[in-house]
Amino acid sequence: MTVYLNGRFIPIEEALIPVLDRGFIFGDGVYEVLPVYSRNVFRLAEHLQRLQHSLDAIRLPNPYRDEQWAEIVSELVARNEGEDQYLYLHITRGVAKRDHAFPVPPVAATVFLMSSPLLHPPAESLATGVSAISAVDNRWLRCDIKAISLLPNVLLRQMAADAGCAETIMLRENAFLTEGSASNIFIVKNGTLLAPPKDHLMLPGITYDVVLEIAAANGIPSEIRRISAAEIFAADEILMTSSTREILAITQVDGQIIGNGKPGAMFTQLYALYQTYKREVMRSA
Ligand code: PDD
Repeated sequence: MTVYLNGRFIPIEEALIPVLDRGFIFGDGVYEVLPVYSRNVFRLAEHLQRLQHSLDAIRLPNPYRDEQWAEIVSELVARNEGEDQYLYLHITRGVAKRDHAFPVPPVAATVFLMSSPLLHPPAESLATGVSAISAVDNRWLRCDIKAISLLPNVLLRQMAADAGCAETIMLRENAFLTEGSASNIFIVKNGTLLAPPKDHLMLPGITYDVVLEIAAANGIPSEIRRISAAEIFAADEILMTSSTREILAITQVDGQIIGNGKPGAMFTQLYALYQTYKREVMRSA
């Protein structure tokens, strides 16, 4: 497995960083996860735009221009096996004496990228849907930043794992839906796709945008608004989306059956449209 670290493509075993890296010490950095289909990076421009948003929010200059990022990611894809991969891209504020304030003068950012096989969700998850739990969203108020400091997400996701579930649906103030621990969440009611607004309380998902675009292009009604906790349990369907899991149906939350307990018509339609869209994009790439 070949990774990219600070300007070099090297075997992962040789990719080492100093312990004073601010990513290691403070979680002071941001990241992206980019799916690769048939060796083409999906929605690169959108991922780079979100990366820029995260970097601006933490006041870290972008170490590369978009053309340079494009070269690095295509080289990394070429150097790794598999038609379908996912890339993990990670930037920290670099190596400096431990002090919470930014280093003066600034130091070079640490840039790390790796590729992993993109595993498609098991057929069973697609056929039966997955189970989730709900939990209070106890994260900070800048969830729009794709920050590497993921301890709350890790703990929230482990709660789902402990319960034998695939995801934790997060409720801000125990009252309204924000997102999953590593995914965005939609609900379906009376044929309308409902999504929470992209604000500071959730990560603006690239897959979230794709799903809403596909819905609009195919005459599927959608609405973006706050979704209450009660609406989740009364939903006809619940969907989760992310770059690595695409679209999955959530058919149980906290042991309660959602809708008829099976992936519904909206899931089936959106899943098929998503697969078609992906193939079209890759053909034209
Ligand atoms: N996570 N919300 C959170 C908190 C996430 O971590 C993710 C993705 C999403 C979905 O965003 P996108 O559609 O752009 O992947 C929403 C990635 C996959 C991860 O951390 O591995």
